[in-house]
Order: sequence, then structure tokens, then C-alpha cells
Amino acid sequence: MLNGEIREIGVNPATRLIDVLREECGLTGTKEGCGEGECGACTVLINGEPVCSCIVPVSQVAGAEVTTIEGLNGEHPLQKLFMDEVGAQCGICTPGMIMAALTLGPAPTLDDVRTALAGNLCRCTGYAAIYRAVLKWRGMPLDEGAGDAVVA
Ligand code: FES
Ligand code: FES
Repeated sequence: MLNGEIREIGVNPATRLIDVLREECGLTGTKEGCGEGECGACTVLINGEPVCSCIVPVSQVAGAEVTTIEGLNGEHPLQKLFMDEVGAQCGICTPGMIMAALTLGPAPTLDDVRTALAGNLCRCTGYAAIYRAVLKWRGMPLDEGAGDAVVA
């Protein structure tokens, strides 16, 4: 199941999930950074859990529910907040950041946000704008740490 639709794809089972998404399915919203499971740019949800799609063979998601940034249809409030707060600059990390943030509970603290996004690297924003976007999405107060340049 991919973004709510059943998909049957004929590829070598060892093909990386990210390649199937981008090249076979045309879902180029999922970005590749390191290709080694280190940067989080390629994060998608598999059965609701954030996973680096660059290190997952497509055979592992047979029968699973995969959600990519396209599954949000550009309409998720967190996508708008990333733009409003300038949490997206070059945008390479943004889809992965958003997919990881979606796994947060209803009232996250700044530390919760930091932890949820700890596996997602950003080279542009210094993280503060990203944390602000996520906290605003959840209606949480912006404590001082969310306004500083911080490194996750
Ligand atoms: S591209 Fe997958 S973790 Fe960096
Ligand atoms: S916005 Fe460029 S890497 Fe995060």
C-alpha cells in the first residue's frame, strides 16, 4: 500500500525503496542525501514509523503501508508552517523532517521535537525554524530554545 493505494511493482526485491518511490512511482518528494541511513532526508513512514528509505530493500515493505510526503497532498498544516516559519530553505531535508515530525504525540515539548527529529540533518536552517514550525503545528508554546540557533 503506497499513500493509500495498492501498488504492484515488478522490480528486483533488493531494489532500494527510495529508488522504487522516485524512479518507478515518480514520487520525487522523497529526497536522497547521504544514501547511507545517516541524514534522514529520505524518511518515509512504514506502518506509521519513520524509516530511511535509502537502506530498505523494497521486499521489506511487501504488505506494509508506506506513506511519503506526497501522501499529504500538499495540504497538511505542517507543510504550510514549514513555509511560514522558513523551516524549509533548500528543501532537501524538508520532506523527511515532516514525515518524522508526524510521529510526534499531541503535546510535544521542545525536547520531544528534538528527539523525534534527531535523525534528520539540516544544513540550512540551524533547526530553530523547523522546531518552531513543529511546535506551532501542535499548538505548543515556543520556549526560548526554539528561538535559538541549535544543533540537533
Ligand atoms: S539519504 Fe537516506 S538517510 Fe540519508
Ligand atoms: S533546508 Fe536545506 S538541508 Fe534543510
